[in-house]
Amino acid sequence: MSKYIIRGGEPLCGDIKIKGAKNSVLTLLAACVLVDDVVTLHDCPHISDVDTMIAILRRLGCRIVRNGDDVTVDSRDISCEKIPSGLASELRSSVFLLGSLLSRLKKAKVAYPGGCDIGLRPIDIHLSGLRELGVRIIEKHGYIDCDSSKAHSADIMLDLPSVGATENMIMTCVFLDGVSVIRNCAKEPEIVDLQNFLNRTGAKIEGAGTGVIRIEGVSSLRGTEYTPIPDRIVAGTYLIGAAMCGGELCLSNVNPEHLSSLLAKLPKSACKVTCARDKINIICKGRCESIPKVETTYYPGFPTDLQTQILTLQTVSKGTSVIVENIFETRFKTVPQLLKMGADVTVNGRTAVVRGVESLTGAEVSATDLRGGASLVLAGMCAQGETRIDNVYHIDRGYEDLSQILSSAGVKIKRID
Ligand code: UD1
Repeated sequence: MSKYIIRGGEPLCGDIKIKGAKNSVLTLLAACVLVDDVVTLHDCPHISDVDTMIAILRRLGCRIVRNGDDVTVDSRDISCEKIPSGLASELRSSVFLLGSLLSRLKKAKVAYPGGCDIGLRPIDIHLSGLRELGVRIIEKHGYIDCDSSKAHSADIMLDLPSVGATENMIMTCVFLDGVSVIRNCAKEPEIVDLQNFLNRTGAKIEGAGTGVIRIEGVSSLRGTEYTPIPDRIVAGTYLIGAAMCGGELCLSNVNPEHLSSLLAKLPKSACKVTCARDKINIICKGRCESIPKVETTYYPGFPTDLQTQILTLQTVSKGTSVIVENIFETRFKTVPQLLKMGADVTVNGRTAVVRGVESLTGAEVSATDLRGGASLVLAGMCAQGETRIDNVYHIDRGYEDLSQILSSAGVKIKRID
């Protein structure tokens, strides 16, 4: 089992180039199944979620070549419509394959998805949307068995603007005759990325980034090359790290607009942020003032995937902060680990009250999920003494070369495999 050992107290200084967004790359890999041709995705991060998705696609019959940051997917010989439970339970995005498999093969059999243990994560909105499109669904023995031979275009209203459900609906509608409309859809940048990618292959989709998406059915898609959007959550994690430890970071290959909800919250008294088209420079000095309230919500609001990191910043800020998690039910699982490090946090349901302390102290802690694990690294970076983090495989799901990147930015961090 790999561990991180961190000796806290160093500022974070240097240049970091951000790679393609995990949540985009995973969706785009699923979307490759729609294309009866060869697709190359550039700038794909070397993270275990991408490896798992590649393993799933290979299982379906795709030929995949990984060359540095490029992933080339040839899905001309795709033949299998079943995703076994072993693989699906490792990766929540396997559920996005429902839409692409149904479009390509007219049937799909997917085991119930896994992913981070951060709440119930139901898929009822995905399934009711598919039913409205005429897909026949049987849920049995832990599998969702779907048949879309009688699917048709439709006007669908999602109960919630779910990212995954919106992506699944888009992929299911790409080849349906006529025009499909999805209302109350998610507006996340990853949805815009999916639209841009699919339109590049010949799809006719418009409206991504707004609450209504229209898809005009086409008969086939052609191969292409595409560079996904940069990872706003990885970038946000490093920015919060700088706010906690002090220092100066220059992030390149970022889209500052995708991070505006975080940038608006970083305390101006301690953090000076300058943005260019695809760069963010942050200079941090001294202890941050607490942010009175942070509430997670749908894009462009504050992302749930940065909630634990911003909470961790509050543990060492001056004053009291209230953090409200509106998206997932159990996303405060890292708090007990932070308490071991001397943090003062009270959790009540979906609300955490964080009273900032002068400093955290190093401890032996355990990552319980991807973003929570990254937050423990941030805590260790600013704590006094040594912090040991185990179960870092959670962090490997979404952060490429974390210890190497942080070491080159001055952090005393070692990975023991
Ligand atoms: C995606 C991201 C995840 C991010 C989340 C919110 C990927 C692989 N994952 O997850 O990292 O944290 O968006 O930005 O892209 N819901 C239902 N029924 C459904 C679907 C969702 O009730 O069928 C609820 C969820 O419980 C949650 C909310 O809708 O409260 C949003 O979830 P959703 O946007 O679907 O998140 P994911 O697509 O799972």
